[in-house]
Amino acid sequence: MYQLITSLVVPRPIAWISTVDLAGRRNLAPYSYFTLVADHPPHVAFSSIGEKDTLRNIRATGEFVVNVADQRLLKQLDRSAEHFGPGQDEFLEAGVTAVPALRVRPNRVAEAPAHLECELVDVYPVGNGNLVVGRVVHVQVDPRVWRDGRADSRLLDPVLRLSRCYGRLSPEVTPEEEPAPHVFE
Ligand SMILES: Cc1cc2nc3c(=O)[nH]c(=O)nc-3n(C[C@H](O)[C@H](O)[C@H](O)COP(=O)(O)O)c2cc1C
Repeated sequence: MYQLITSLVVPRPIAWISTVDLAGRRNLAPYSYFTLVADHPPHVAFSSIGEKDTLRNIRATGEFVVNVADQRLLKQLDRSAEHFGPGQDEFLEAGVTAVPALRVRPNRVAEAPAHLECELVDVYPVGNGNLVVGRVVHVQVDPRVWRDGRADSRLLDPVLRLSRCYGRLSPEVTPEEEPAPHVFE
């Protein structure tokens, strides 16, 4: 079922999530069961399959940062998914720079082009997952990816999750002025 469902729900954006434990020790890991659930005020959600350090830290501190990884950070992102013990600093293991966030205690990945600082709303057990819903309390975007009042997808160049590998956006497609009607079956 894992192989079937993860090969069909594609592509998935990746939340590269940074947290701290109660002692302030850093943690960083990628989560592709991730989406936007509201835009006013903005909320995001991701699911932890079982209890992992990220979830434990969020339960303990109520805070996390979603770092948006671009294609230049693919190796570092992949490395941070390896199993490291609790309290092992995945910023160091992955070779990325930790910088303070504005509204929450977890650090941001300095090299990432955008960050969503989040406060925990609740954790909902669903199947073998734990759906973590967070309210976005601060957003930071690198001016280098900012164009016409929004982050430009081509400049952002986010890493996507496919079934067994990673993907990249192809050039944007805009609908024709009078598109043919869609047929849903
Ligand atoms: C691209 C990618 C996406 C992942 N997405 C998820 C996910 O959505 N949920 C999950 O539980 N694990 C996911 N994992 C596995 C976790 O990143 C991995 O178990 C990691 O060691 C957890 O770290 P933590 O214990 O520090 O939280 C993903 C791994 C990769 C490489």
